[in-house]
Amino acid sequence: MRSLLFIPGDDPKKIAKGLASGADALILDLEDSVASSRKPEARRIVCETLRARTPGAPRLIVRVNALKSGEIAADLDGVMPGGPASIMLPKCEGGADVQHLGALIAVREAENDLADGQTHIIAIATETPVAIFRLGSIAGSSQRLDALTWGAEDLAGAIGAEANRDETGAYTDPFRLARSLALFAASAADVAPIDTVYTDFRNEAGLAAECRAARRDGFTGKMAIHPAQVAIINAVFTPDAAAIAHAAKIVQFFRDNPDAGVVGIDGQMVDKPHLVQAERLLARARAAGLVG
Ligand code: COA
Ligand code: MG
Repeated sequence: MRSLLFIPGDDPKKIAKGLASGADALILDLEDSVASSRKPEARRIVCETLRARTPGAPRLIVRVNALKSGEIAADLDGVMPGGPASIMLPKCEGGADVQHLGALIAVREAENDLADGQTHIIAIATETPVAIFRLGSIAGSSQRLDALTWGAEDLAGAIGAEANRDETGAYTDPFRLARSLALFAASAADVAPIDTVYTDFRNEAGLAAECRAARRDGFTGKMAIHPAQVAIINAVFTPDAAAIAHAAKIVQFFRDNPDAGVVGIDGQMVDKPHLVQAERLLARARAAGLVG
């Protein structure tokens, strides 16, 4: 998943637009973008959207309300009959929360005749201060977990920060720390690291730069809040032909020379860590349908 587009779950017009946006996944939101009074209607619309999905459509993820919100049981009861691909858990405070959500999902899978374990989980794992300290507990918490992302907006509110970016637009230290720890947590859990939203949605150059920085550090996709962000995100997170060719050369070299240690390829020193990088890049290229 390169691009994951957020859509308020109570807005059928935006959902229709999202389905045609080219996003790899849609995050149908029941949490912060939906007013409390609209949540029942949002659950109904989201379930209808899930039921109406067609082959080749973006992957459909539902963001439910947090475990402590008092809304999550109604959210899951409302949308699980539609068989969502994944449930996104906001304000996730560690592995125990992921496990807890997994149990709530398992009951609804049974009730709705869905295969046990078919519903995946994506955790937003840095939205509260205590969540930061529990990132290390997420690895191994649930087989359902297949992606992890981070959030800077709720965290800013929680710690009393006036802003999460400095005058130049770069994240300040507390948020850079959250981003880095989320990346390590995803990697330790062997799930996809997804970068957070870029809220300045008219700033295309700023988004592209942030996508490139995320890709450089190891993120494999980014969440979007506006359809115009999707093409930019997809472009940056799709490996280009030169990168694929270089990676293929490295993999081929080590296949042909299994006992090799270090070698020079295209004027660069290449050894085992570079082989791992090359294999990861080729896996992303395969997922994007660019190599067989
Ligand atoms: N998904 C699908 N369609 C969207 C969309 C989204 N996230 N955001 C905007 N659109 C649609 C609009 O409905 C509009 O459609 P129209 O041309 O048929 O009227 C078109 O794209 C252009 O939208 P625009 O006028 O540029 O933006 P806006 O002012 O209507 O909306 C936001 C701005 C931020 C309210 C909107 O982008 C949004 O709802 N984003 C998602 C918010 C969210 O889910 N947040 C939770 C996670 S942080
Ligand atoms: Mg939020």
